[in-house]
Amino acid sequence: MARNLILAFETSCDETSVAVIEDGNQILSNVVATQIKSHQRFGGVVPEVASRHHIEQITICVKEALAEAQVTYSDLTAVAVTYGPGLVGALLIGVTAAKTIAWAHNLPLIPVNHIAGHIYAARFVQPVEFPAMALVVSGGHTELVYMPAENQFEIIGETRDDAAGEAYDKIGRVLGINYPAGKTVDEWAHEGQDTFNFPRAMDKEDNFDFSFSGLKSAFINTVHHADQIGETLNSQDLAASFQAAVVDVLADKTVKALQQYPVKELILAGGVAANRGIRSRLQQELKAFSTTELVLAPLALCGDNAAMIGAVGEVLYRHNVFADASLNANPGLEFEWAADSER
Ligand code: KG4
Ligand code: ZN
Repeated sequence: MARNLILAFETSCDETSVAVIEDGNQILSNVVATQIKSHQRFGGVVPEVASRHHIEQITICVKEALAEAQVTYSDLTAVAVTYGPGLVGALLIGVTAAKTIAWAHNLPLIPVNHIAGHIYAARFVQPVEFPAMALVVSGGHTELVYMPAENQFEIIGETRDDAAGEAYDKIGRVLGINYPAGKTVDEWAHEGQDTFNFPRAMDKEDNFDFSFSGLKSAFINTVHHADQIGETLNSQDLAASFQAAVVDVLADKTVKALQQYPVKELILAGGVAANRGIRSRLQQELKAFSTTELVLAPLALCGDNAAMIGAVGEVLYRHNVFADASLNANPGLEFEWAADSER
């Protein structure tokens, strides 16, 4: 019997990644070439620099991914690629590479939404059971996504301004931490106390939306004010206070969502899902939901990677969601396409 092998591409931001996934849930290879060092001196991702790196890396990553998986093009079942949301120039490199390989080797081309990828990283832990809820927290997104069934996504809450990861990176910069700052802020938070009592924006509002820009401003104002009066604040306490505010809001909104939408699984996904504070808080909160299982995306697959794109690719393959050579990058891609394609 022919194997089910998907060659997957991810180039939406600052990681060039190519993976080979078998049956949607086994990683034969997952090559990730990170560009973080090139962006660090700018304090964030520079889109033009990202595109150039992707161009340099993409063919090397394809070769490595195939070699590591010990497969050739003729073994493949399909090619899957992130076509949005993300940086347009960065997305275009992955989309062009995937289209070229699909055309040259006569393989079906599968268009994948990056956010769906983050959610389906949970497949590498256990099968996703529906209905499911996902809290997706990354550098670009903070969303509560309800999934009534496979390949159906409804955003029930999202950030009105900054994403959680973006806020981590910005306050990290004020603390003198290199981009991306989330991991170090998380470590410092565990060495300090919540002494500053920063605002928990929208926490008590009757919706599932988030806002982090007020928290970020409160943090920056506190540090600047201290600077002006020649006072030095404890960085660990600042980190702990910031993290406590983020975790409170994320957890409270998620609990509210679970009360309204009973689900079999809660999936925590995205780069910020690596955060120890939010992981342990959700584990604690989920004790009150005896029929909902918490599925934490594997730490190594929380950040951007192509394995998660292959996991979604296999789902879309079964649902006959394919693209042709006209597939374009869609930087502002939203979820409707998935539900629409079912109708
Ligand atoms: O998903 P991701 O790799 O890229 C996007 O699609 O945005 O997420 C990267 C984000 C960065 O903002 C980084 O600071 C944050 O995830 N991050 C963390 C942690 N590890 C990474 N934020 C908080 N705590 C962490 N442990
Ligand atoms: Zn991402």
